[in-house]
Amino acid sequence: MKLLVTGSAGFIGSSFARLSVAQGHDVIVLDSLTYAGNLANLNPIKDSPRFQFVKGDIRDGKLTLELLHAHKPDALVNFAAESHVDRSIMDASPFVSTNVGGTQVLLDAAKKYGAPIRFLQVSTDEVYGSADDKKPFTEQHYLKPSSPYAASKTSSDLFVLAFHHTHKMDALITRCSNNYGPYQFPEKLIPLFTTNLFEGKKVPVYGDGMQIRDWIHCDDHSRGVLAALEKGKSGEVYNLGGGNGTPNIEITKQLLKLTGRDDSFIQYVQDRPGHDRVYLIDHSKATRELGWTPQVSFEQGLADTVAWFRENRAWWEAIKSGEYLAYYEKQYGNA
Ligand code: NAD
Ligand code: TYD
Repeated sequence: MKLLVTGSAGFIGSSFARLSVAQGHDVIVLDSLTYAGNLANLNPIKDSPRFQFVKGDIRDGKLTLELLHAHKPDALVNFAAESHVDRSIMDASPFVSTNVGGTQVLLDAAKKYGAPIRFLQVSTDEVYGSADDKKPFTEQHYLKPSSPYAASKTSSDLFVLAFHHTHKMDALITRCSNNYGPYQFPEKLIPLFTTNLFEGKKVPVYGDGMQIRDWIHCDDHSRGVLAALEKGKSGEVYNLGGGNGTPNIEITKQLLKLTGRDDSFIQYVQDRPGHDRVYLIDHSKATRELGWTPQVSFEQGLADTVAWFRENRAWWEAIKSGEYLAYYEKQYGNA
């Protein structure tokens, strides 16, 4: 396939680009390089003839349309988003602008393009809200987003389904649980805690630390998106998940062990406002219809991820110090 992929300088999108190129697909990345976009994440494929990078914003419909005409991709895969819940609590506007507005602009560009193209929206289990009854979400579960981030992702999902319904667009959605793995921006739980522990800093556990997330390795997520592109039905939603619900405090303890630190590095801090207690996801539809199952065990994946952060200190130190943003501003101007 030839794929136009947005947001691939970020964490999961870069996993997807690396995997797609390795599997023989052509990938054109469109990314505006916000604070979360880092070209170093694409270093392993930067010299591949199958890979191209375009710096640009998904809210720029003219640019997307030009790229569609120039490259005639088989699919447009939208990973680009503002992705951090805590930032959405501080200021929801970039979330509405990129996640909702940007998705609508991409859909419009695909509609104006007119030639057959598959549109895949990368979404999240957070659209379902909190599974307080501990029953894993199926695709039929009602939508009840809690955070401004989740509300923006829900809204973009609804636009995708509306364009499918109204304009007969070949569009589908994947909704995945919490990802972890190499190249994850060190503001999210696992990379923040891992790098803090390497630096000898404490780790801020929100509330009682008993919130449950279903963790999946980013490469398993990427394999699920590829499977949905290849075998998914238009207009459908596919849940993807790791199948293991783990409380944050348990992950924290595993990270302490993997980094050789003790419980004195735990710092309980004020809870996140509106914090969802439980995300659990039922991915049996993806297994049945796409032939997809997660392959990486959480124990092995977590150990490998900690090892990656140990071996790639320069990558996260440049981010934590802000050094890499200064570099991009010089290269490309402000995102
Ligand atoms: P990320 O924050 O690491 O990366 C986002 C990327 O999008 C960055 O490269 C950024 O530069 C780019 N971007 C942001 N706004 C843009 C814009 N207006 N135009 C062009 N590019 C823009 O995010 P991530 O964690 O890799 O998540 C990727 C996608 O997967 C998101 O849509 C997110 O909602 C979804 N998702 C994430 C998780 C998770 O656990 N991280 C789970 C399920 C779904
Ligand atoms: P996060 O990685 O931000 O993902 P999400 O909010 O999308 O689930 O957070 C994962 C869990 O870890 C969530 O329950 C919030 C919690 N958390 C902390 O306890 N401390 C932290 O510093 C962070 C970033 C998250």
